[in-house]
Amino acid sequence: MTIGILKEPENENRVSLLPEAIKTLINLKTDLLIEKGSGNRAFASDKEYEEAGGKVADRKTVIEKSDLLLSIHAPEKETLSQLKSGQVVISVFNPLADKDIVEHFLKSDQTVFSMDMIPRTTRGQAMDILSSMATISGYNAVLDAAYRLPSFFPMFMTAAGTIRPAKILILGAGVAGLQAVAIARKLGGVVEVFDVRSAVKEQVQSLGGKFVEVEGAKEDAAAGGYAVEQDEDFKNKQKQLIHDHAAKSNVVICTAQIPGKKAPLLIGKKTVQEMVAGSVIIDLAASTGGNCELSENGKTVTKEGVTIVGKSDYPTDMPIDASRMYGNNLINFLKLLIDEEGNLKLDFEDEIVKGTCMVHGKEILSDWLRKVYS
Ligand code: NAI
Repeated sequence: MTIGILKEPENENRVSLLPEAIKTLINLKTDLLIEKGSGNRAFASDKEYEEAGGKVADRKTVIEKSDLLLSIHAPEKETLSQLKSGQVVISVFNPLADKDIVEHFLKSDQTVFSMDMIPRTTRGQAMDILSSMATISGYNAVLDAAYRLPSFFPMFMTAAGTIRPAKILILGAGVAGLQAVAIARKLGGVVEVFDVRSAVKEQVQSLGGKFVEVEGAKEDAAAGGYAVEQDEDFKNKQKQLIHDHAAKSNVVICTAQIPGKKAPLLIGKKTVQEMVAGSVIIDLAASTGGNCELSENGKTVTKEGVTIVGKSDYPTDMPIDASRMYGNNLINFLKLLIDEEGNLKLDFEDEIVKGTCMVHGKEILSDWLRKVYS
């Protein structure tokens, strides 16, 4: 089987596989075709791909000659129109938000896997690109905030007086939020955390954060570990408490999300007005509406003296390790699709293969996604 790597769009620095990953796939008896310049922005040259055993070609050739195509961003319209019947495509399609792409594949004849659909089970952990990318986002969000904050994170006792440590408020303690807690604590900040899932309380505390509880949160075991939408009464209570804590914080890191829904609005304009001038809000939920009313996706704005960074794509700023982690997750998944002779194997009895399959034979295979589209 020939595996093709597509070059990502201009606004993306990552690549789905680095040269180091090529060797692993060649050992699995597959051939690798890499679109010219795919790794450039991740500091990987065409020469390194060739030295690792791959062949570099133009985009048209990669599409034509590959049995299985890899990218991080969903291929654009022109590429979609060039795909062959029976070809396998693996990308991050975000099928809960991008209904058009699902509709497209339901009418075409490719087998499509979406890496953001990897089931969040123990076995799925080694393939979980959402966790890998969230780890980077949580880390980068805190470093970005520390860089922009006009004061120190740690406490300093100097001849020029005592500097008080920064107060960091983290909204949402999923993978990104917990990483943010760890890094903010390492930098010496005082950390408070809100989440609607009580299960994360211990994890927050073990990382040195203070968990602020709002009583009456709705939790649903059927949501697979994710948060569910809260009722108005809870939302108002939570908003008030977050307001009180945010007004005393120097940094707010927003990571709260609900899969397939608009991000919960947790920081209103009034709260921003009451924050200390010079404070920083990093809104990782910006691409799904933001946790802060004043954040703008893809922009850094200053409002009421507060710097608000609406940024959901931190992984592209760390292209080497982001590509490495994405690639390691991808290889673990590809191993399920490659037989001993290096040929394609589609075993839909395997819960990870089935659960990650967006469309096969013009049908949605994943049970939960089928429900969304029925
Ligand atoms: P996410 O990105 O969907 O959400 C981030 C966080 O925001 C979550 O902790 C959520 O509870 C919180 N949140 C949502 N609404 C909120 C609100 N109104 N106020 C405050 N916080 C709010 O979550 P992520 O990071 O993708 O993971 C969520 C969970 O998924 C994990 O904690 C874990 O249970 C599960 N998981 C399982 C994995 C596995 O077993 N392979 C791997 C990773 C995650």
